[in-house]
Amino acid sequence: MTTRSDWDLPESAATPERAFQDRRMLLRTLGFGGVALAASPFLLRAAFSRGDEDDEKKSGETKEKALNGELHQKYGALFPAKRNEKYDFAPRPLTPESITSKYNNFYEFSMEKDVWRYVEGYPVDPWKVRVKGLVEKEFEFGLEELFRWFPLEERLYRFRCVEAWAMQVPWSGFPLRKLIEKCKPLGSAKHVRVVSVLDEERLPGQKKDKHWPWPYFEGYRLDEVTHELAFVALGIYGHTLPMQNGAPWRLVMPWKYGYKSPKSLVEIEFTEERPPTFWNAAYPREYGFYSNVNPKRPHPRWSQATERDIGSLERRDTLPYNGYGEEVAGLYTGKEY
Ligand code: MTE
Repeated sequence: MTTRSDWDLPESAATPERAFQDRRMLLRTLGFGGVALAASPFLLRAAFSRGDEDDEKKSGETKEKALNGELHQKYGALFPAKRNEKYDFAPRPLTPESITSKYNNFYEFSMEKDVWRYVEGYPVDPWKVRVKGLVEKEFEFGLEELFRWFPLEERLYRFRCVEAWAMQVPWSGFPLRKLIEKCKPLGSAKHVRVVSVLDEERLPGQKKDKHWPWPYFEGYRLDEVTHELAFVALGIYGHTLPMQNGAPWRLVMPWKYGYKSPKSLVEIEFTEERPPTFWNAAYPREYGFYSNVNPKRPHPRWSQATERDIGSLERRDTLPYNGYGEEVAGLYTGKEY
C-alpha cells in the first residue's frame, strides 16, 4: 500500500475550519491559485463567485463548449427531462451550477478541483461501453442506445464526498436497474464492476500519477445497483453532462460517498466475486468496499460527523446513508457498511 500524501487534498477539505486558517491550503482546495482571500469561511463563497477574470471567462467558455459540443447537438433535445417529484432534497437549497461545475474531483484530469480548466475538447463521441462477464451474451453499446433506450427523468439528489463536503444536484438520466436488466446478467452474477475511460495520451492524471491503479474502477453488489436510487446520469441542471461532471455518462449512488459515483464509464462487468475498487486498491486501510455515508465511522484521518455545503457554506451534521437510510438500510442488515 502506498502512503503517498496526495490524498491530503481530502484531508484539507475534511477539516475546513483548520484549512480556512491556512490561505494556501484554501486556495489549493478551491483550485483558485490567483485569488486573494482572507481566512474566513464566508469568503469561500466569494472564491466561487469571483475567481479572476480569466478563470470566469474560461469557465464560461468551457461550459459553452460542452453544451455546444456534439453531445448537446445530438441529444440536447432530450433535456430538460421531466422531474420525478419523488426525489427531492428540500429543505436544502439547490447548489448553483457555477459551483458544481468548478469544484470537481476527476483525478484523470486534475487533483486540484479545477478540472474545468483541462477538459476542453475532450472527445466523448463516439463512445463505446463494453458489457462483459457473467451475462447471457457479451456486447457493446454506444451513445445512441444510452440516450434513447429509456425515458429520461430528473432527480434531485444529495451528494456527499468522503472529503466532508456536500452538495444538492439535479441529475437527469434513468434508473441504473434498467441498464442492468438490459445487460441480462446470469443467475451466478452477484456483483458488478464498472470501469472509467483509460486514455493516457489525453488524461494528464493517468500519464503523470503512475502510482495509481488506472483506469478508475468501482464495484457493487448486484442488489445495490438494482436499488431504485442507483442512477445513470446523462445530464445535470437540465442539459448534457459537462466533462468535469463525467460526460458522457456516470453513475450516481447517492447514499454512498461520492467516489462510488464514477465518471465517464467504458465497461460494465458482472462477476460472482466481490470486485476490487480503485480507492481500496490504492489505500486499503482508508477506503472500504461499501463506503456508505456514515457519520459514526470516521475516516482514519478525519471525522465524518459533519459536512460543509459547498453552496451555502453551512456546516451541518452528516446524515447516515446521506439521508437515504429509510430506502437503503435494509440492504445492509447485519452487514458491515
Ligand atoms: N470518477 C472518476 N473516473 N475519476 C475520479 O477521480 N472522483 C470521484 C467521483 N467519480 C472520480 C470519479 C469523487 S472522489 C467524487 S467526490 C465525485 O466523482 C465528484 O463528482 P463531481 O465532480 O461531479 O462533483
